Amino acid sequence: MAVSWLPTGVFSCQMSTITRTRLFKGLREKLSQSSRSGVSKPAQADRPPFSANTVFDSTGVREFFDPVILNPGTLGALAVSPETLRHGLELMERLEPDSYTQYLSAYYRTGLERFGEHWRYADIITVLVAVAQCVRPQSYLEIGVRRGRSLAVVSSICPRSKIVGFDMWVPDYAGMPNPGPDFVRSELDKIGHLGDLTLITGDSHKTVPKYFEDHPEMYFDAITVDGDHSEVGAGHDLLTVIPRLKLGGVIVFDDISSPVHPYLRDVWRRIMEADDRFLTWNYTELGYGVGLAIRKRA
Ligand SMILES: C[S@@+](CC[C@H](N)C(=O)[O-])C[C@H]1O[C@@H](n2cnc3c(N)ncnc32)[C@H](O)[C@@H]1O
Repeated sequence: MAVSWLPTGVFSCQMSTITRTRLFKGLREKLSQSSRSGVSKPAQADRPPFSANTVFDSTGVREFFDPVILNPGTLGALAVSPETLRHGLELMERLEPDSYTQYLSAYYRTGLERFGEHWRYADIITVLVAVAQCVRPQSYLEIGVRRGRSLAVVSSICPRSKIVGFDMWVPDYAGMPNPGPDFVRSELDKIGHLGDLTLITGDSHKTVPKYFEDHPEMYFDAITVDGDHSEVGAGHDLLTVIPRLKLGGVIVFDDISSPVHPYLRDVWRRIMEADDRFLTWNYTELGYGVGLAIRKRA
C-alpha cells in the first residue's frame, strides 16, 4: 500500500494534541481500510501464529491463563543486567567501529567500572539481546538497519534466524558513514550469520507494505522499528508492522527519550501502550531510551 497522502517531511515540527490524535486515528483507519480491501491483508488476519518460545502449551491440561508466558518484567530485567551489557560490549568489538559504537562501548565500560553489578542501563542493543535470548526469533524484521549493529545482536544469539531488513541508507546518517547493504552483509558474515538475510533498499513507507503484500504468509517473532524518526513516519511504521507480529512476539522501538525526537515517546504511548493487545516496558533513565511491547492477544 503506498502512503503518498502522508507528507512525511513536515512532521518533525511540534503538533497539537488534537492534531496528533486525529492524525493517528486517520492513520489507523487508513491502514485497516487497506487491510480490509485485501491490499496488504495478512494470511490469517484474525489470529497471527504463535511465537514458539514464548507461549505455554497447555495440551493435556485445562487452560487458565493467556498462553503467552513471556512478560515485560522478564525482558526488562534481562535488558538492564550487566551480563547483557557485556554481551553488547563483546559484540560491538566484533563489528567495524564508528564514533557511536566507540562512544557506547566507553559508556558501558564506565558504568560497569563505577557501579559494578548494580548499574542498570538499557538501549536498543541490550533490549535486543534480551529479546533474542527469550524469544529465540526464527524470523526478525527490522526497519532502520544502518550499519547492521542491531541486526548483528539478533544474529549473534540466533544465527539461523531469517532476517528481513529495510533501509534507504540515508548518506551520513547522524553525521556518520552509512555504507549500505553490502557493508551490512559483511558485518553479519563476521558474526557468522547462517540464516536467510534479505535487505531491501528504499523508503520503508513503501517497501514494507510492498513486502507484506508480496509475502502474505510472513509473520515475525521480533520486529524493530528504528528507521524514519519523524512523528508520523515512525507511527506509520509501527502501525504497518503490528499485524505481522506473532502472538508472543516482541516489537522494539528506539529513542523514546531522545532530546532530538521528543515526540517519539508520545508516538509509542499512543500506538503501543494504548493498545490492550500488548504489554509494554520502557527504559528512559539514561541514553536515548527504548521501548518494547509483547503481543499478548490477537
Ligand atoms: C537510527 S538508524 C538505525 C540504527 C540501527 N537500528 C542500529 O541500532 O544500529 C536509522 C536508519 O533508518 C534509515 N531511514 C530513515 N528514514 C527511513 C525511511 N523512511 N525508510 C527507510 N529507512 C529509513 C536511515 O538511513 C538509517 O540508516
